[in-house]
Amino acid sequence: MQQTQPYSALGTQHSGLALYIHLPWCVRKCPYCDFSSFESREGVPEQEYIAALIKDLEAALPLIWGRKVVSIFMGGGTPSLFSARAIDTLLTQVRTLLSVEPHAEITLEANPGTAEAQKFADFRAAGVNRLSLGIQSFNPRHLQALGRIHDDREARFAVELALCNFDNVNLDLMYALPEQTMEGALADIREAVAFGPQHISAYHLTLEPNTVFYNQPPSLPDDDMSAAMQEAIEAELAGAGYEHYETSAFAKKRSPLPNPLPSRQCEQLCCRSRRGHSLRVPGERGQT
Ligand SMILES: C[S@@+](CC[C@H](N)C(=O)[O-])C[C@H]1O[C@@H](n2cnc3c(N)ncnc32)[C@H](O)[C@@H]1O
Ligand code: SF4
Repeated sequence: MQQTQPYSALGTQHSGLALYIHLPWCVRKCPYCDFSSFESREGVPEQEYIAALIKDLEAALPLIWGRKVVSIFMGGGTPSLFSARAIDTLLTQVRTLLSVEPHAEITLEANPGTAEAQKFADFRAAGVNRLSLGIQSFNPRHLQALGRIHDDREARFAVELALCNFDNVNLDLMYALPEQTMEGALADIREAVAFGPQHISAYHLTLEPNTVFYNQPPSLPDDDMSAAMQEAIEAELAGAGYEHYETSAFAKKRSPLPNPLPSRQCEQLCCRSRRGHSLRVPGERGQT
């Protein structure tokens, strides 16, 4: 016989609670993306949105009474568009309403086109302890075909900044991209591995309904080639010590890793960013 219980009672049976917080704005909508995300043409209404989120959380409190928060994931959209002050306010209010475990994993998703040294440092100071970067590819042609707001050098710069500020970094990559070859797919994986992040996500590019790519499909590798890419990527990551624990997710074994970048290199990166130096060659395609 199935027993029905009120949600509030169900909530107390489970120990750890994983909180997902959606921050739905992006600089520009990517043509392949069907996430709930919107272009931030008039800026992000940070204060109003955070107030609405907290109201939502307050309304849900009776459902989760007694449960401790073991992880918080701020996904998007592009949460790194929010100011560090806004993220600080959000996390402070969450901590006021809920019991967050001292060692809870607190992740923020970031787009390399929004990477700044001070901002990453301030996210860290606000309590974010894991950064998830949407790299997609290190190949400038693929980044352009994907309509990304950053080029390959900004992608690398963002990875270095992330590794200098966070002990726990995830890199999102996609494969089976327009005109991509097996060599190209593996080159992206190898470059990601060479940075030594704790986690790599490798997503097969899918054509999702209601996206630009779905309506005007680009030329993609065929099914046999993309299946071969998937196998080759899994073998490459296994060989590099990444455990394949979920469909597209690969993690280094849970031992604490030293920052793979020397501190001198981190200092130089931060100085370069503070002085407003860009990795961009003047006249190149800019962020919109
Ligand atoms: C919310 S986004 C990550 C953060 C940020 N918005 C960005 O794109 O840089 C989550 C990830 O989903 C993956 N993704 C989005 N649309 C996809 C699609 N159609 N097929 C496969 N992966 C996709 C991308 O790798 C992306 O980085
Ligand atoms: S992939 Fe990321 S940056 Fe691009 S539209 Fe989707 S959520 Fe925004």
